Amino acid sequence: MARLRECVAAWRAEGLRVALVPTMGNLHGGHFSLVELARRHADRVVVSVFVNPTQFGPGEDYDRYPRTPEADVEGLRSAGADVAWMPAVEVVYPYGPEAAVRVQVPGITEVLEGAHRPGHFDGVATVVARLFNQVQPDVAVFGRKDYQQLAVIRYMVRDLAFPIELVAADILREDDGLAMSSRNQYLAPEQRPVAAEIRRVLEGMAEAARAARPRQLVEQEACERLEAAGFVVDYAVLRRHDLLEPEAPGVDDGGRVALVAARLGDTRLIDNLEFRL
Ligand code: PAJ
Repeated sequence: MARLRECVAAWRAEGLRVALVPTMGNLHGGHFSLVELARRHADRVVVSVFVNPTQFGPGEDYDRYPRTPEADVEGLRSAGADVAWMPAVEVVYPYGPEAAVRVQVPGITEVLEGAHRPGHFDGVATVVARLFNQVQPDVAVFGRKDYQQLAVIRYMVRDLAFPIELVAADILREDDGLAMSSRNQYLAPEQRPVAAEIRRVLEGMAEAARAARPRQLVEQEACERLEAAGFVVDYAVLRRHDLLEPEAPGVDDGGRVALVAARLGDTRLIDNLEFRL
């Protein structure tokens, strides 16, 4: 870590802007698009690759999460990253993951992904805070693919006064609309075309919401359509851009997001679509 800090400090002393792109590795086009965006917002790009144990629940895929460090380094070289920061667990959690000081963002972490993966966002906020302090970037890039994660990080940065500009990257998709994800490779060949149904359902939800169809009905139909395709649905919902329910008090500027989390066999997929009424 001392070398990383020295390197970043030297860049900043030269007046260069430094971006951090946090990842868990097994990098794909989605990750590389974040690196590209980071290059447009900064002079130097650090990509962290760390499979963070504290954001996986018991029975989730921490042990079998794909780890491909050599391919990641190779890919990052081609993508134009300056440093791949691949810390060991002991470097991120010197006193062990269980004993770690934790960052907890209230409210927003208790719904949707947070409700289905208790403790997940505590782990995400905790590790991102540590990575921010280790790397000390001026800019950090996150994907809109993990819509709620981005919102959690926004609150954390604001509330803990991290002097870091957040940049959000659009979702990169396969040709059939499936959002790129490290978890897509778990899909069996016959499940792969089914997975693309998520995107079509999200588009249907946006269209129905724009046609002023009642929200509960839109959500119910989306669930039914996913179930008919073979998914077990965790949620398929319409929310305001701030993730509050559309009927909640407060300013409603018509910005909406449809969000889906659903499982095909053992593989859990999430996706979302932002739109305006
Ligand atoms: P990971 O799933 O590896 O994702 C790293 C970053 O890549 C996230 O910001 C995610 O939103 C973005 N990303 C993934 N797939 C994408 C796609 N298809 N299009 C655009 N962006 C995409 O998210 C995490 O890791 C972790 O929770 C982390 C933030 C690193 C903390 O451990």
